[in-house]
Amino acid sequence: MTVTVPAPTSTPASPPTSDLAVAAHGVVMRYGSRVALQGLDLAVPRGVVYGFLGPNGAGKTTLMRILVGLIRPNAGSVELFGRAYSWRDRRRLFSVGSLIEQPSFYPYLSGRDNLRVIGATGGPTSARRIDEVLGFVGLTDRKSDKLKTYSLGMKQRLGIAMALLSDPELLLLDEPANGLDPAGTVAMRELLRFLTSQGKTVLVSSHILPEVQQLADVIGIIDRGRLIREGSLKRLLEEAALLRVRIAPNDAEHALTVLAPFSPQLEAPAYGEREDGWIVVRVPPDRAGEVNRLLAQNDIFASGLESTSDLESVFLSLTAPGAGASGPTAAGPAWVQAPPSGSR
Ligand SMILES: Nc1ncnc2c1ncn2[C@@H]1O[C@H](COP(=O)(O)OP(=O)(O)O)[C@@H](O)[C@H]1O
Ligand SMILES: [Mg+2]
Repeated sequence: MTVTVPAPTSTPASPPTSDLAVAAHGVVMRYGSRVALQGLDLAVPRGVVYGFLGPNGAGKTTLMRILVGLIRPNAGSVELFGRAYSWRDRRRLFSVGSLIEQPSFYPYLSGRDNLRVIGATGGPTSARRIDEVLGFVGLTDRKSDKLKTYSLGMKQRLGIAMALLSDPELLLLDEPANGLDPAGTVAMRELLRFLTSQGKTVLVSSHILPEVQQLADVIGIIDRGRLIREGSLKRLLEEAALLRVRIAPNDAEHALTVLAPFSPQLEAPAYGEREDGWIVVRVPPDRAGEVNRLLAQNDIFASGLESTSDLESVFLSLTAPGAGASGPTAAGPAWVQAPPSGSR
């Protein structure tokens, strides 16, 4: 995916009514007896890429469908840009662009004509805007080709172009990196950066931590319809930084005492590894030397030191086989399993 990203221009003039693009409070969503969201809280700051991270079945798509008004929650409230979400306000929809699950396109029309048709159903869309968004997603060269000749990645990019047509303030992308090759992912990151430089907010979901780490400024981790952690990626990674020290079991108690002033949140054992003699010290990994020296001064010899991140552990424990609601086989965007283009 190549993108043509214009140089950033000035940010929009209208004054913000809130620092948050999206605020969700206690959102509950049930599908029959299945509870998809059980009191979800979320705070998406304006002008950032927010990574909405959670295993399959966590409720990411459900929240996005709520945000575009496709479904209505059973309880809780949602604010967009500081304004209470009004279910009847259709104009609001023009400030939210989305690519949720598989986009439906006409296979016998070109990419450009597909955007014309879609544009005709919303607010007025100029030919200039259509060509502009096609450029954003790197489809200028292929814009006149029929959709049925597009690869899956190209369709995904056309979906993003479609979501951008109305120049939305908030862009919702549901697992957009699925099906993109590494170059496509890099290009998407550039596009998202460009959008946030324009003051736009992007909410992007994924079930893959490294993917979100590459794209997002702020992340929210959800599992089983609840928010587990939320914050700036940098801060969460710093907070989550852990040093694991392997200590002979009979030295463990002594080591805990020695390290206690060093790390107020000393954990031993963590993650059920006491048997192996691991002690977890919550310090930045670059202080490993200090920890080691302190132990040695007390005649305790660590047989191993490793830096890790709690974020990874939290997320891996969520996504471990059997931990998620629907398991690892549900991975992949719906359109990967969709019939070949032409039949839709
Ligand atoms: N239309 C539906 N009917 C019944 N259950 C649904 C429906 N859509 C989603 N669910 C269930 O709601 C939960 C959350 O789903 P979803 O929001 O799609 O999660 P995610 O996008 O994080 O994978 C899952 O348990 C899923 O099976
Ligand atoms: Mg989903």
